[in-house]
Amino acid sequence: MPTSKSAHGSARRPAHRSDSHGHMNSTRFSELFMEELKDIYWAEKNLLKAIPKMQKATTSDELTHAMDEHLEETKHHVMRLEEIFEIMGKKPQTKKCEAMEGLMMEAQVFLDDTEADSMVRDAGIIISMQKIEHYEIATYGCLRTLANVMGHADVAELLEQTLEEEKHTDSLLTEIAESTVNEEAAAE
Ligand SMILES: [Fe+2]
Ligand SMILES: [Fe+2]
Repeated sequence: MPTSKSAHGSARRPAHRSDSHGHMNSTRFSELFMEELKDIYWAEKNLLKAIPKMQKATTSDELTHAMDEHLEETKHHVMRLEEIFEIMGKKPQTKKCEAMEGLMMEAQVFLDDTEADSMVRDAGIIISMQKIEHYEIATYGCLRTLANVMGHADVAELLEQTLEEEKHTDSLLTEIAESTVNEEAAAE
């Protein structure tokens, strides 16, 4: 059925509204952006303390190495965020991230409840880390989109670099989990 000649041709949709509230929107976007930036800045800074705790509890060399590598990357994530605050003309400021605190607490409870030198503990650490990575991936993806909406291509580029490292860590952890499970199954 042709859609261009509808029987209710007069009931047209309103034309796309021009952005008469464009300024207001961009102010709100930048407020949202800054709030999310403070949130992830708190998260990354606290991960600098949480990752070594988890790393010390790992058993397999592969996982130990992956955690080491991501700790180094996390230091860069903190520095990139500080660079972004500077570009935005703001002082670096944290806002407690309740979600990340919960994920880190969950990881700690798991470590307290499991025995050292076990593959089960490694598997639990991988689960904890992947939940953390997924939170970071979601946040960095949204921040990058907001940065683009606000016309800050330079900021979006910095966020993209971190986002790629978080995604890489996530897929590396999946690979380690799969090989760990396979080794355990073969040993049984
Ligand atoms: Fe990170
Ligand atoms: Fe991460």
